[in-house]
Amino acid sequence: MITVVFNQKGGVGKSTVSTNLAAQSAKLGHKTLLVDLDAQGNSTYYTGFDANEESLTVADMFKQVVGIFRTAKKPKEFVHPTPFENLFVMPSSPALADVERELESRYKIFKLRDALKELKGEFDNIYIDTPPNFNFYSKAALIAADGFCVPFDCDDFSAQAIEHLLNNATELKEDHNPELCLLGVVVNQFNGQAKLPTELVQSLKQQGLPVLESYISATVKVKESHSKRMPLPFYLPKHKVTGQIEALFEELSALQT
Ligand SMILES: Nc1ncnc2c1ncn2[C@@H]1O[C@H](COP(=O)(O)OP(=O)(O)OP(=O)(O)O)[C@@H](O)[C@H]1O
Ligand SMILES: [Mg+2]
Repeated sequence: MITVVFNQKGGVGKSTVSTNLAAQSAKLGHKTLLVDLDAQGNSTYYTGFDANEESLTVADMFKQVVGIFRTAKKPKEFVHPTPFENLFVMPSSPALADVERELESRYKIFKLRDALKELKGEFDNIYIDTPPNFNFYSKAALIAADGFCVPFDCDDFSAQAIEHLLNNATELKEDHNPELCLLGVVVNQFNGQAKLPTELVQSLKQQGLPVLESYISATVKVKESHSKRMPLPFYLPKHKVTGQIEALFEELSALQT
């Protein structure tokens, strides 16, 4: 399965959710790939992967597509192991920003789908982290995916942005990927003690949006795990927030079978 974690709004938890779902999948023994399509490289960093000068990145894969990088490497050559068993990464690079216009003008939007199709046989699960834009890379990810989920950070601006986001995704689905499935909204940074998060989630449900049942709490442990470069299933296997990641993984898996 190829699952995209997408929200064009910044800072809602895309990198946190995609990396932890990938880590949970790997921990359960599934061979798992995380593709980092955000030039910021947060999820690449979070996996603990350290690039050297020879490490090929997802930007190199795209450069090859437009002939800037003259090689004929297979998609798997852009994939690298992380310090965690079963967890592999196709790392980001700031160069993603340099090649975007070229890819767009030459209409290479299906090339990621083609590359991941080749890798699908080798991996049990593939997760894609996307940038905070509805740009070439997030569109390419949604075209390549079987399903997508939308992190929501319990903020009023985010609630307002969701309808627009889903309209964009629906149009793309109709035009390019009719099989694409909206798996649901992932409630992140939830604080049950405060009134607003509960009200906002309630209003999303009233709009008929598929809000997933497994909420992820707001906790400093998330930031701690970023700075340790250890996703939660490995960093704090027994913590409550890790249990929430496990539940989210199971809920999404059940929707995808
Ligand atoms: N459950 C949580 N509890 C506490 N802090 C969180 C939680 N989830 C995310 N954060 C914090 O919120 C910030 C944004 O998270 P993250 O980088 O995962 O979002 P993003 O959507 O990938 O951002 P961007 O749009 O910049 O790529 C980070 O500082 C992260 O530590
Ligand atoms: Mg991110």
